[in-house]
Amino acid sequence: MSFPQTRMRRLRKNSIIRNLVNETKIDISDLVMPLFVCTGKNIKNPIPSMPGNYQLSIDNLISEIQELHHIGIQAILLFGIPEYKDEDGSVACDENGIVQRAIKEIKASVPNIWVIADICNCEYTSHGHCGIIENNEVENDKTIEQLAKQSVSIAKAGADMVAPSDMMDGRIQKIRKELDAAEFQNVPIMSYSAKFASSFYGPFRDAAECSPQFGDRKTYQMNPANSREALREVMLDIEEGADIIMIKPALSYLDIIYKVKEQTNMPVAAYNVSGEFSMVKAAGEKEWINEMNVIHEILLSIKRAGADIIITYHAKEMAQAMQNNT
Ligand code: PBG
Repeated sequence: MSFPQTRMRRLRKNSIIRNLVNETKIDISDLVMPLFVCTGKNIKNPIPSMPGNYQLSIDNLISEIQELHHIGIQAILLFGIPEYKDEDGSVACDENGIVQRAIKEIKASVPNIWVIADICNCEYTSHGHCGIIENNEVENDKTIEQLAKQSVSIAKAGADMVAPSDMMDGRIQKIRKELDAAEFQNVPIMSYSAKFASSFYGPFRDAAECSPQFGDRKTYQMNPANSREALREVMLDIEEGADIIMIKPALSYLDIIYKVKEQTNMPVAAYNVSGEFSMVKAAGEKEWINEMNVIHEILLSIKRAGADIIITYHAKEMAQAMQNNT
């Protein structure tokens, strides 16, 4: 049957019927808020390219998390800015490292927030690459040893989940093996499975102070042109023991999110990255867009594509907006 019997506008007549036939919803419990923790006391350094985001010392981080928890955010993703860096990023595995200390304090004061820690070397190495350098290249097999060590040390500190973002080969298998050996069988791995070498990470690299000092990340992060390869990466991570598959960035990669959801039975996370966030903020500041509506539409599109979990710097403002609407 078609027009005039069929009229699609019948179900758009008012908000009641539109809500009744609504297919996708954003739930605060789907959102993960990324946070940056640094050493020192009472520090709240604004990140200029990411309005509303800060490098926070542990004391301020705790207050921020209490506030987030209060407005309904249930999960955070932690990134550390250490006091010093070295060639092989060994401080990432230090039990008194910044992220390890932060996790212990978070667990003591806000025990019910789900704490995810990013696992990677780039915030800890002096050269800013995601692994150990040998002959000017990131050495895969030594790097994954280090990542497994970092994961165990993060699990010991009390993290609920680890999220390796380095894109080395075989790291999920290695991390799973070492976590299990250390009796952290119940700590899940959310793998940045299809992480693209993206220019949308620009603002994050200022925030986490981790820009590569030479070259780029194209020898380990994926070529933005490839979706079949993304599926191979995802399948390998599933085989290696990943519990959640992440696609990153989100907006320019909605097709990848969709395919992964269609072709696997895995929970899928999408990372709405810094550059995606900053573009919205910049246009919002200029009043070129209705910022909150755009944020809602973006998060909805990521959900609609198939993401179960959305990691987004908009999490706090979205939760606040949703609270004000109820
Ligand atoms: C570390 C890491 C990066 C991001 C998350 N983990 C930066 C990078 O790979 O260069 C980017 C997050 C964002 O842009 O919001 N490897």
